Amino acid sequence: MTTYATTLTPVIEVLSAHKVYANGTQALAPVDLTIQAGEFITLIGPSGCGKSTLLKMMAGLLTPTDGRIRWWRSGFDTVGDEGKKISFVFQEPTLMPWSRVAANVQLPLDLAGIPKTESAPKVQAALERVGLGRYADHYPRELSGGMQMRVSIARSLVTAPNVLLMDEPFGALDEITRNRLDEDMRQLCTDRNLTVIFVTHSVYEAAFLSNRVIVMAARPGRIFASYEITDRAIRNADYRTSAEFGHHCTALSALLHQASLESGSGNGEAV
Ligand SMILES: Nc1ncnc2c1ncn2[C@@H]1O[C@H](COP(=O)(O)OP(=O)(O)O)[C@@H](O)[C@H]1O
Ligand SMILES: [Mg+2]
Repeated sequence: MTTYATTLTPVIEVLSAHKVYANGTQALAPVDLTIQAGEFITLIGPSGCGKSTLLKMMAGLLTPTDGRIRWWRSGFDTVGDEGKKISFVFQEPTLMPWSRVAANVQLPLDLAGIPKTESAPKVQAALERVGLGRYADHYPRELSGGMQMRVSIARSLVTAPNVLLMDEPFGALDEITRNRLDEDMRQLCTDRNLTVIFVTHSVYEAAFLSNRVIVMAARPGRIFASYEITDRAIRNADYRTSAEFGHHCTALSALLHQASLESGSGNGEAV
């Protein structure tokens, strides 16, 4: 088991945060979770266990009903300062269909008022990082689903974030494309020294990507188990056929099964 030095400044701390929506649904019971810089964490669990709710709270898009979230030991107002940037990637690529790929990637820089002379090279660099350097002038409809997702990732990278929050980003893609993007994400995480919090339905994806997997249960949403993956194997295509990977997949499947059984009544949904 890895124990992280307590002297490190955590990137995000969830402190007894819970969420009751306006209609009375208790989406999350109080959750405590500390994310350290450089971690690749995945959240898995049955549908409705509050994965998206927790991620949106960590993104500052939702306020907890009670409890609190701290970013770099501070309030959300410090997010965006130098070295404290967060980007969010949704399940759908959410691209503007009427704009070319480059303009889509440039959007966060336009919104920040950065002049085009300064933003254009950043856009090109982000596109090259996801292997789409030659597609800047294409429209989204001319690209495959996997390529559109890469555009969405390039858009999230263009502001040079330290933390990437991703909500089932590859869930709609075929398995081969998803595997390739997972391999790219690991490389990206290493290259850019990113902290990633990633929601998935797939134990295979969680086992491949993560240093730590948070298994959640539903009704009410809560953390059921935390599973650390400390082996130092490089996460490339070969890793998928290794004994370690098989072991982690088996262990995570068992935890997920238990979490489903312990999820409140009515839970027969696929996980
Ligand atoms: N805006 C909302 N208003 C009311 N209930 C919601 C809202 N968003 C999510 N929920 C409910 O909160 C629970 C957790 O949802 P969610 O965080 O989306 O779970 P997950 O991402 O794990 O599927 C579910 O019961 C869901 O129906
Ligand atoms: Mg969700």
